Amino acid sequence: MAIPIDRELFKKRLSESSINSLSTASIREIKKLADILERDTGEKFIRMEMGIPGLPPLKEGVEAQIDALKKGVAAIYPDIQGVPELKREISRFVKLFLNIDVDAEHCVPTVGSMMGAFVCFMTINRMWPDREGTLFIDPGFPVQKQQCKVLGHDYMSFDVYNYRGKKLEAKLREFLDTGKVSSILYSNPNNPTWITFTEEELEIIGRLANEYDVIVIEDLAYFGMDFRKDYSKPGEPPYQPTVAKYTDNYVLLISSSKFFSYAGERIAMIVVSDKLWDRREKGLLRYYTSEKLGDALIFGAVYSLSSGTSHSAQYALAAMLKAANDGRVNFVEYVKPYGEKAKIMKKLFTKYGFKIVYDKDLDKPIADGFYFTLSYPGMDAEKLLEELLIHGISAISLIIAGSERKEGIRACTSLIQMEEMPILEERLKIFAKDNPIT
Ligand SMILES: Cc1ncc(COP(=O)(O)O)c(C=O)c1O
Repeated sequence: MAIPIDRELFKKRLSESSINSLSTASIREIKKLADILERDTGEKFIRMEMGIPGLPPLKEGVEAQIDALKKGVAAIYPDIQGVPELKREISRFVKLFLNIDVDAEHCVPTVGSMMGAFVCFMTINRMWPDREGTLFIDPGFPVQKQQCKVLGHDYMSFDVYNYRGKKLEAKLREFLDTGKVSSILYSNPNNPTWITFTEEELEIIGRLANEYDVIVIEDLAYFGMDFRKDYSKPGEPPYQPTVAKYTDNYVLLISSSKFFSYAGERIAMIVVSDKLWDRREKGLLRYYTSEKLGDALIFGAVYSLSSGTSHSAQYALAAMLKAANDGRVNFVEYVKPYGEKAKIMKKLFTKYGFKIVYDKDLDKPIADGFYFTLSYPGMDAEKLLEELLIHGISAISLIIAGSERKEGIRACTSLIQMEEMPILEERLKIFAKDNPIT
């Protein structure tokens, strides 16, 4: 049996890789190392490092995209601001599932939420010359900080776990009082911890955004996926919680990668509040021809990055949104298997001595969803990732997500299949035997 992997072979492959330390390695670097170890050993790994959807794409999207391609859209540049059908469906979607009103003009497709965030940093963080950049409510999605770095922007961050509920206000004020914050970014539900902000916390964020005049970038990559509540019924409460209820200073990033399993086509949306879209700030003129945020965003940022978004993918997204808006597709039901897998995986890991690091959502146990966090007694993240890889399981550290929990790692539930759970258990059993808890 090739698992556990020969330690000498593991060391050799690690030294040949671009990785200096497993605890600071990026998701893609860990993925590459696991690919190589899989090839060496001929053993399929339990892949927990990357948030690739483990479900097929929504068929409504695929069919509409093929149709659009057959009609010849591949030959035609799409409008930078997006095709009207799609803009209309995005505006309907946010009305039906968030209960907010946004003009279709202010709903813009992007090349994944990756581009959505980049566009926000390029514009919002340039509105005020005397401010430094984004305040990240961490733990978070590591590559967004990388985006700030490549733009030459500074950023601030803090681990929110000890500042939940009312405590969030004082912590946010600490940063906002510096006068250096232009935007606040968080994901909800949170990648990597799966904590979800309450209405009380969103109210605090929104109120402070108004008071300090900063812009909230709310990343809803896991839209509707807090399965403790049913956010799946169009036009009916409960609605996916959003800061948009509490402030007009918001941009929403809504990825289609996870809730429509459409990651491969790199299509997402940004939704800018009507008021913010028309906001004028002289600072923008340093980079763009217009001081109006909406114009700078479309004709400055989106134009210079990619001149819009794949034409055919826009029709795919329009069709998927329309199906959800019309109540023909229940996208929440579709992604529920992630929660079911999380439940089983957490049970297995804890059975073999692991602990859930971010184990509470305020006073309740953390929900089952796309991610969860783990540690193992007596190991830091570096050692834990190494031992897991040697035992055929890949994950990433929480350090790269801005977490204070140096012992923690993130596990993603998407790629493992239900029939692989016995293999996971078998490997964890060997892991526990090889690493007895003292
Ligand atoms: C919090 C968060 N934001 C954004 C993204 C990127 O989304 P997209 O695939 O639309 O670029 C991800 C993907 O994992 C994510 O977890």
